Amino acid sequence: MGRGKVFPAARARSLVNPLRRLVQSPTRTVAAMALPADGLVLELGSGPGFFSSSIAEAVPAGHVVLVDLQTEMLDHARRRLMHRPGISLVGADAMQLPFNAGQFDVAIVATMLGEVPDRDTCLAEVRRVLRDRGVLAVAETRRDSDFISLAQLRALVEAHGFQFAGRRGVAWQYVARFRSG
Ligand SMILES: C[S@@+](CC[C@H](N)C(=O)[O-])C[C@H]1O[C@@H](n2cnc3c(N)ncnc32)[C@H](O)[C@@H]1O
Repeated sequence: MGRGKVFPAARARSLVNPLRRLVQSPTRTVAAMALPADGLVLELGSGPGFFSSSIAEAVPAGHVVLVDLQTEMLDHARRRLMHRPGISLVGADAMQLPFNAGQFDVAIVATMLGEVPDRDTCLAEVRRVLRDRGVLAVAETRRDSDFISLAQLRALVEAHGFQFAGRRGVAWQYVARFRSG
C-alpha cells in the first residue's frame, strides 16, 4: 500500500483477517473509546466492518452509521453485519458527509484518516455533524502505512476546535479521544 492511497476493496479480506484480532483487538480498541450505551455513532471509513460489531455491541440502546467511499467495502460489511440490529450503511465521501449538523454523539475514525486527501475538510465535516460536547475517537496503528502519530493527530484535530481528552494504548497503536465544542 502506498501512503495516502485509498485501501483497495479487492483487499478487504485482509482487513478482517482473524490474525489482526491478535494485534489489534476490536473489543479492546472499542472499549478504549468509552462509547455511550445509547449513542448515535458515526463510523467513518468502516471498510468491511472489522470494528463495527464491537461498536454496535458497545451501544446496545444506540445506533451505528457506517460510512465508506467504496460500495464494495460496504457490501462486505453488510454480509458480515446483516444479522445485527442498530446498524445502517451509507456510501459517502468523508470530506462531504450527507448528514445534518449536530446529529451524532460520537464519530469514530479507525486507520482511515491518512487515506483522505484533504484531512482538514474531513475534520471540519466531522466537527459539523457532531453535537456540542460530542466525541471524536481516532484509532491508529503503525501496521498501517498511513499511520499518524499522536503529535501529528493532535495538531490536525485541535486546529478544528476539538479538545484532547486522552490516549489509550502505546505510541505505535493507540486510541485518542477528543471533545468537540
Ligand atoms: C485501511 S481501511 C480501514 C477500514 C476499517 N476502519 C478498519 O480499520 O478495518 C480505510 C477505509 O477508509 C475508506 N476511505 C478512504 N478514504 C475515504 C473517504 N474519503 N471517505 C470515506 N471512506 C474513505 C476506504 O474505502 C477503506 O475502506
